Amino acid sequence: MEIKKVGVVGCGLMGSGIAQVCAQAGYLTIVSEINDAFLNKGLGSIKSSLEKAVAKGKVGEGDRDAILGRLKGTTNMGDLKDCDFVIEAAFEDIELKKKVFASLDDICHKHAILSTNTSSMSVIHMAAATKRMQQVVGTHFFNPVPVMKLVEVVRTVASSDESIDIAKKFCESLGKAVILAKDTPGFIANRIWIPFALDAMRLYESGVASKEDIDNGMKLGYNHPMGPLELSDLIGLDTLVDAANSMYEEFKEPRFAPPTVLKKMVIAGYLGRKTGKGFYDYK
Ligand code: CAA
Repeated sequence: MEIKKVGVVGCGLMGSGIAQVCAQAGYLTIVSEINDAFLNKGLGSIKSSLEKAVAKGKVGEGDRDAILGRLKGTTNMGDLKDCDFVIEAAFEDIELKKKVFASLDDICHKHAILSTNTSSMSVIHMAAATKRMQQVVGTHFFNPVPVMKLVEVVRTVASSDESIDIAKKFCESLGKAVILAKDTPGFIANRIWIPFALDAMRLYESGVASKEDIDNGMKLGYNHPMGPLELSDLIGLDTLVDAANSMYEEFKEPRFAPPTVLKKMVIAGYLGRKTGKGFYDYK
């Protein structure tokens, strides 16, 4: 199957990055949001990311215009009807995602592959909301999407070999390296990283060390580009609570349970960089 047109549902942090790399790779890309305010914010962040790339000489002005010419935004998900490959990047809310998949199943051509960017939910729940379970897969990107090389392609019990192959080749065509995982919460990368970050939070909350020293321990001692607490702020603390909860629900192991400090910060609205405050202050 030749992929010409790509759809992205959601133009937040992840959806906008995914839409950007699709348009940059030469695909006609249409990204949908629930309202103009969210859509304009997401499209604005793509434009500013491209402007920075132009300023650094990584993208030419003509290329920037061509990329933006291939990219369209919409608030009507029905406009994704001609897409060959659709990536859902909505909030990590399983009921919302099931609704999105049921709608995409009605809207899209029979041949279209539907994928989810979920970081920790079972893909089969979304697949089961459609009548094309064999054409539903996971494609889990990493933040910031234009920079991070990895995509996890996730196979459910129902995904066909052909769909996995198409998804893998499609992600590679975006310049990404693909690793394959079965449909278990957290897949590969988050199954390892989330308990690690939660342990860093437990260390912080028990007063063993300051947040700076915890982060420096991993940056300077292990060469991580960011420490676990500053990376948690980048990812979004609400996203982390959701991911931890869905992994804890599945595995029932205490190491996946979100620590109190994390839950309280989320209740207070301290969600990390996106709200200007998380473990660190960004104002
Ligand atoms: N869009 C496009 N390019 C970006 C960018 C963005 N949002 N953010 C940074 N960059 C580019 C910069 O332009 C710069 O490019 P050049 O080297 O060509 O100049 C390069 O990335 C490095 O950026 P900076 O110099 O500004 O800063 P840095 O060296 O500190 O790197 C970072 C920033 C890339 C974010 C780096 O700190 C890093 O790799 N951090 C770890 C990120 C990570 O682990 N992400 C995974 C999160 S987990 C996830 O997403 C999955 C999940 O399910 C939760």
